[in-house]
Amino acid sequence: MKIAVVCVSDRAYSRVREDMSGPAIIDELSDIAETAEYVCVPDERAVIEKELVRLCDTDVCAVITTGGTGFAPRDVTPEATLAVADKNAPGISEAVRAKSLEITPKAMLSRAVSVIRNNVLIVNLPGSPKAAAECASVVKPVLEHAARLLSGNVTDCAVE
Ligand code: MTE
Repeated sequence: MKIAVVCVSDRAYSRVREDMSGPAIIDELSDIAETAEYVCVPDERAVIEKELVRLCDTDVCAVITTGGTGFAPRDVTPEATLAVADKNAPGISEAVRAKSLEITPKAMLSRAVSVIRNNVLIVNLPGSPKAAAECASVVKPVLEHAARLLSGNVTDCAVE
């Protein structure tokens, strides 16, 4: 399956620091997913929305974002994601937060969301490389099935 990875970070976008969270996600998912695009955008809601809309019109099954999900004033990734959503997919972010809470209470500070746009799954993950990899590993076991469902290739979940 093909995915896209979007790093949302002012500092990575302006090259003040190198993004390590995108590569961490790409690496974590490499045995099930080919990363068709990996882009960096600033913490600007309109820019994030535009990029998500563009990517959901390509042939990727999922767009994984990293960063911008916390409480900092410029953290707007969940708002941008919800703004472009056709449907919510809350179970994914619920599972990520539940698993992450076993690792750190700071997982409570994640406002990440998961949604569907144009039959593409968008999942927000946190911006630290360690956290991004931890959370990608939670999503990993359901990504292929989610992609099959979104493509319309699975009509009855009860048979599996
Ligand atoms: N989830 C996991 N698995 N591991 C972590 O270390 N860090 C948390 C949380 N989720 C963390 C985590 C912290 S400290 C924050 S502030 C939020 O994710 C939001 O991160 P972001 O602003 O980089 O998106």
